[in-house]
Amino acid sequence: MATDKMKDLNLKETITRTELAEVEGVPLTKPLTITWDQVKKFKARPDDVLIATYAKAGTTWTQEIVDMIQQNGDTEKCRRETTYKRHPFLEWFFPEPPSLRVELANAMPSPRTLKTHLPVQLLPPSFWEQNCKSTAVMATVFQKQLRNSQALVMGESLVPHALRTLRAFLAAADVTSFSVLWGSWHDHVKGWWKAKDKHRILYLFYEDMKQNPKQEIQKIAKFLEKDLSQEVLNKIAHNTSFEVMKENPMANYTKDFQGIMDHSISPFMRKGAVADWKNYFTVAQNEKFDEDYKKKMSDTSLVFRMEL
Ligand code: A3P
Repeated sequence: MATDKMKDLNLKETITRTELAEVEGVPLTKPLTITWDQVKKFKARPDDVLIATYAKAGTTWTQEIVDMIQQNGDTEKCRRETTYKRHPFLEWFFPEPPSLRVELANAMPSPRTLKTHLPVQLLPPSFWEQNCKSTAVMATVFQKQLRNSQALVMGESLVPHALRTLRAFLAAADVTSFSVLWGSWHDHVKGWWKAKDKHRILYLFYEDMKQNPKQEIQKIAKFLEKDLSQEVLNKIAHNTSFEVMKENPMANYTKDFQGIMDHSISPFMRKGAVADWKNYFTVAQNEKFDEDYKKKMSDTSLVFRMEL
């Protein structure tokens, strides 16, 4: 997207902005690129679970499901801390610098669940070397799509929630030429898709999770080698529903990044719906998007559903 168009978006003046810089051609935050070596040398442990997603793909939802499975459906245990603090976000830079984040993860007792938005080629190699018991849970969503359109803004502001209106943003955006933090969505999802043939990766789709949450929760439990009773499964499905998570302060990001995420403008738990792009894309944007999507996804067997 042309960054000059961003100026039309009336973004709040108070938001934190950071410069971007590249690692192997992928745009990341400058603070991260400066301490990249430390992240690259991150020592994974064999029993780590890594939740690897593209931004806005349903990461937090997957994190909650994974935690509830690990805590055998005990909601009190899952509310011990916010999502952000329960699962270190490897390459994040705020409010602590990435170096401190790595130290925090190092100090965490096993078994750890970690989060990353890194494209597969930038993942610290120790995750592969350790052949982590559950290397990665991949939740990827694409709805043409609002979720991505929000992520897109992150390259500029890092705070998608600072948008006054998504509609205004989309009106200004070129829906196909995104320059985004963590790089191209297409490359990201294709990269992890390919990696699953060689590594222990469970690849999940947001649309499947919406369509049949219990089935997908069972899939994740099996991957984590956990048996769930019907009662626990029901409890997890209930507590990880959009409606319940939206009201859960330990999962809805109202306790983290205060003063940066403005939930009155756009709550983190915004809609949680498939195909919301239909409410925002114009016919012309949609056509342009489809054409570009077809081209960029022509070399993969990966197929996304744009609606249910
Ligand atoms: P929307 O903005 O479309 O509502 P991430 O955690 O990767 O940043 O993804 C955030 C998106 O996941 C938001 O999408 C949020 O509403 C959605 N989400 C979070 N928890 C969810 C749940 N339990 N069910 C459905 N969607 C959920």
